[in-house]
Amino acid sequence: MTTDERVLREDDPQTVRLLADGWVVVHESWGARLTVPEDSGEWGTRLEACVDAVRKQGWTVSRLGERDARSIVDLDGASIADYPDGGPATSHAVPDEPTLRRRLAGEWHAYGARTPDGRLDCVTVMRPEEDRVETEFTVTRARYRGQGLATAVKAYAILDQQRQGTRSFGTGGSAVNEASLRINEVLGYVLEPRWLTLRRP
Ligand SMILES: CC(C)(COP(=O)(O)OP(=O)(O)OC[C@H]1O[C@@H](n2cnc3c(N)ncnc32)[C@H](O)[C@@H]1OP(=O)(O)O)[C@@H](O)C(=O)NCCC(=O)NCCS
Repeated sequence: MTTDERVLREDDPQTVRLLADGWVVVHESWGARLTVPEDSGEWGTRLEACVDAVRKQGWTVSRLGERDARSIVDLDGASIADYPDGGPATSHAVPDEPTLRRRLAGEWHAYGARTPDGRLDCVTVMRPEEDRVETEFTVTRARYRGQGLATAVKAYAILDQQRQGTRSFGTGGSAVNEASLRINEVLGYVLEPRWLTLRRP
């Protein structure tokens, strides 16, 4: 990002000042939070149903580990051109394999959907933050998009993390990424004020 660009929340007083000075919005991105409901029964059943729908189509949904780093990197690499350009606030680079392997051996989590012959078609990677588990990235193989894979894999991830005691989750993305917005809405994430990338006139 250059000094001619700033990333600020829409409710930041500085945003109002810069817009009044003629700065223009060049990207919009969103963050969203999910807090597991006190009475999580109905919500949990809905998430289980997302996972079941994908299992019935033949995929296995499961937790992944450090040994899966190579196939995660390959899947992400095959899809990198499909990440919408959301500007500096949502930029994504394919992780390098040794770093991802080390992180998955440590505190990061990954979940995925595989075909019966083992091909990884969808992955979500999450990392712990101080007060929540945050999504690092989610990707589905281009040919199999729109079949509920990303929703199912994220649902499985959240339920697994919930069983381990996590109640608070975060995620985010570019405003132009409608599929990503839709997935998170289905799972129960609630949008926070948008982040704007502002450019100097
Ligand atoms: C975003 C992405 C992971 C979604 O994966 P997916 O497996 O196709 O998602 P799902 O099939 O679970 O679809 C989720 C919802 O989005 C909708 N959707 C899918 N593609 C869409 C599109 N291009 N535009 C609008 N909505 C879309 C689906 O209809 C579904 O909504 P529904 O539950 O109302 O039917 C996939 O498009 C992708 O890999 N994109 C490139 C990488 C990326 O942008 N990742 C997200 C940022 S981390």
